[in-house]
Amino acid sequence: MTRARLTLDRDFTAGPVPHRLFGSFVEHMGRCVYTGIYEPGHPAADEQGFRTDVLELVRELGATVIRYPGGNFVSGYRWEDGVGPREERPVRLDGAWHTVETNQFGLHEFVDWARVAGVEVMEAVNLGTRGVEEARALVEYANHPGGTAWSDLRRKNGHAEPFDIRLWCLGNEMDGPWQMGQKTAEEYGRIATEAAKAMRLVDPTIELVACGSSNSGMPTFGSWEQTVLRHAYEHVDYISAHAYYQEVEGDHGSFLASAVDMDYFIESVVSTADAVRAAGKHKKHIDLSFDEWNVWYQTGKETPDQPHVIEREAVWREHPRIIEDEYGVTDAVVVGTLLNSLLRHGDRVKVANQAQLVNVIAPIRSEEGGPAWRQTIFWPFARTAALAKGEILRPVVASDRYGTARFGDVDLVDVSATWDEENGRVALFLANRGLDEAADVAATLRGWRLGRVLTAEVLDVPEGGDRYTANTQENPDAVGLRPLGDVTVDGEQVALRLPPLSWAVVQLEATAA
Ligand code: AHR
Repeated sequence: MTRARLTLDRDFTAGPVPHRLFGSFVEHMGRCVYTGIYEPGHPAADEQGFRTDVLELVRELGATVIRYPGGNFVSGYRWEDGVGPREERPVRLDGAWHTVETNQFGLHEFVDWARVAGVEVMEAVNLGTRGVEEARALVEYANHPGGTAWSDLRRKNGHAEPFDIRLWCLGNEMDGPWQMGQKTAEEYGRIATEAAKAMRLVDPTIELVACGSSNSGMPTFGSWEQTVLRHAYEHVDYISAHAYYQEVEGDHGSFLASAVDMDYFIESVVSTADAVRAAGKHKKHIDLSFDEWNVWYQTGKETPDQPHVIEREAVWREHPRIIEDEYGVTDAVVVGTLLNSLLRHGDRVKVANQAQLVNVIAPIRSEEGGPAWRQTIFWPFARTAALAKGEILRPVVASDRYGTARFGDVDLVDVSATWDEENGRVALFLANRGLDEAADVAATLRGWRLGRVLTAEVLDVPEGGDRYTANTQENPDAVGLRPLGDVTVDGEQVALRLPPLSWAVVQLEATAA
């Protein structure tokens, strides 16, 4: 039996849970947009062609902010192609995903969809094949009330009111050799600065994300952030981070410890940003936008310079199936721990977007003309987004450990926690990384009067299944949440048992003592 002791104290906090920590990502890639969120003619489509069955799942997932339209796609995108009368929109080749882009879905459709879904828009500009002028024009089109050529064009195209988009990405993964318009850190630092200045001259209230490294294995990781921020520090608010994890050659131990790598990644970028702050004598802090993260099973041909090798079809076609990964129980547990890592670092990670929302490495799957369903990874995201409220707590954890090939000894039990004073609740988010043994968790919660256990749920290997069991079109509810029994509260002591390979959430009634 694995054992873990946790200590939580009402005074050990890391600030409020950032609302934007539970973001997602819609890219014009594969079937995320077309036959994902948008499919005119589908039996569940509304009059705008939005799939209402997918919309319901998006609301249940609880995503708060959605990045759009890419990703690698944005680095070759002309945003003007996606506005105006649909019949006049050009069909183009998208080089990023070897796809025919019809432009039947564009900025207006996304803003309308986001309103119906109840999410904030996070818009990326193309700093790959385009530059300062196109970025500036897009802000004017989106956010200026009217009386200028670009803003009046928006009005003519059906939106009298500005879109009022607050959060903007200055390009995507500009350090990557795979990116259209790849740049050196110096080149990108300069263009990001100039684009930021021009965009803010149109709307000084927008928040800006500069591209950090595409992943922490990039040869320029660290020095890229330093150079970019040396140029752009005073002109941006966030630096981005991207990370995808997978089980390689059966090394489940390291895979289950992926959050250790995410912790390292976040802490390294925070230190780098703070070093630039000190050297440049800046007052403000630069926070992190972890605007792509997830589990993604890749081909095995990846290198640090080429981290995502996607076999492309020889033919060009509209919305081909690309990276529609099917997720098992292990993947859901890893996603739960990645959310724990983001939450533990919520004092500096202010935005995070799971990539992507539908079909493309996504928590939601849909079929053309067919159903939509929840993947296993839907559950930790949905519950954490719904229940991580109020203040982030800093748990002190003493857990049994296990050896991993990549990260040395790692805690078997992984934890994050929040304190929602307004509603009188403490929430614990826990994972047991051990494949074979249950874990007894003994928690001490200081500074509260604890009451009932409000909810206790667990995701683990279902009866008759194994750690690879996934939700499929035929069996969409194979893996889900079930009640976690025997959570006991005695004074300030809470005891519970996590099944092997599981992710769990426990909500306790709590008032300040
Ligand atoms: O999310 C899939 C792709 O991964 C994105 O387009 C890109 O930014 C990253 O490399």
